[in-house]
This record gives sequence, C-alpha cells and structure tokens, in this order.
Amino acid sequence: MKKGILILLIIGAVFILAVIISGKSAMKWLRAEGYLEYSAQGAVELAHRKCAQCHGIDKTAKYCMRCGPPFIVVVHNMRTLIAKSKDRYGGIEDIKDGEAAAITQVWNALVGNWEDTWRKEDLQKLLENDNALIKLLNTPVKERKIEMALKGKTAAGAETIMKPVK
Ligand code: HEC
Repeated sequence: MKKGILILLIIGAVFILAVIISGKSAMKWLRAEGYLEYSAQGAVELAHRKCAQCHGIDKTAKYCMRCGPPFIVVVHNMRTLIAKSKDRYGGIEDIKDGEAAAITQVWNALVGNWEDTWRKEDLQKLLENDNALIKLLNTPVKERKIEMALKGKTAAGAETIMKPVK
C-alpha cells in the first residue's frame, strides 16, 4: 500500500514539474513572438545576450548618430544578416519579432534614439518587410514601455559618446 502512495506522489511531482517547465518555456515563446511583453530588465538581458553573439557589445554601445541609421534599422539588418548567413554562423540564435522590438527599445534608451532625425519613409524603406519593427516605428516613444522605463539609463561603454539632443 505504501509503495502505491509513493508512486502516486512521484507521478504527481513529475506532473507538476512538467507543468512548471512547459509553462516557463511557453511564456518565453509568447514573449519572443511578441504576444507578451518583456519586462525592462528582461529586455536588457535579452539585448545583451542576442547582440553579443558575433561581436562585442561595444560595437553597439559606441554606435552613434553619426555612425549610421538608428537602431531600429540596425536591429533589422542584424536579423537579416543572421537569417542570410545561418550556415556561416553555426549555432547563432535568430531574433524573433517580439525580441526585435524589445531589443530596439533597449538600445534606443541606453545608447540613443535618432529615429526622428530620419525621414519616416526612408526608415520604412530600410525596414523592408519587417512588420514587427515597422509597427514599432509607428509607435510613439511615449507609448513604448521598455524604452520609457529605461530612458535616462546608459549602457556601459556608451558614456563617452555624444547622445542625440532631446
Ligand atoms: C550573426 C552575427 C551578428 C549578430 C547576432 C549581431 N551582429 Fe551586429 N554586426 C555583425 C556583422 C558581421 C557586422 C559588420 C557588417 C555590417 O556592418 O553589416 C555587424 C555590425 C554591427 C554594427 C555596426 C553597423 C554599422 O552600420 O556600422 C552595429 C551597431 C551592430 N552590429 C549592432 C548589433 C546589434 C544591436 C545586435 C543585436 C540585435 C547585433 N549587432 C547582432 C554581425 C552580427
């Protein structure tokens, strides 16, 4: 009899564990696909992880207004680069829709957002068919939760560069 109860307990524990684990990965998937929002801290961690896969984070932290298009375009370009050269960069994680929107907001806030110094039509063209980022482009900064939450903070290494005037 005792053995039976023990087995039931074990089965129960395994079941509960399975629910917790699949719940966690389901949440991760929902965030990555853009159905759930990242917390500001979660987004910062994600940005540092995904953007340090091929080059140092310095490349991003020292990127500046004079260096090229705003981060929304850079993130799009990096997504495209990953997709195009999956073979060359074996084992690289791609950047999903929800991740791209969250990561863009992180670098906009920590390094700088100069989207408004570019014509919207040009940015739209540069974003090609990246609907997740086009949607972000059309979202006023005030309504971008992650970007607003992180505003005023600075990425390590970005202190030395000139920030766009706000
Ligand atoms: C697949 C590897 C890879 C990943 C992942 C990656 N990059 Fe890059 N990145 C590159 C390469 C290669 C270049 C240089 C070629 C170029 O400029 O297109 C580059 C260049 C850059 C530049 C300089 C671009 C310029 O116009 O001067 C910035 C800024 C940058 N990456 C930021 C990021 C950010 C932000 C992320 C995360 C969203 C990221 N990178 C993820 C490979 C990668």
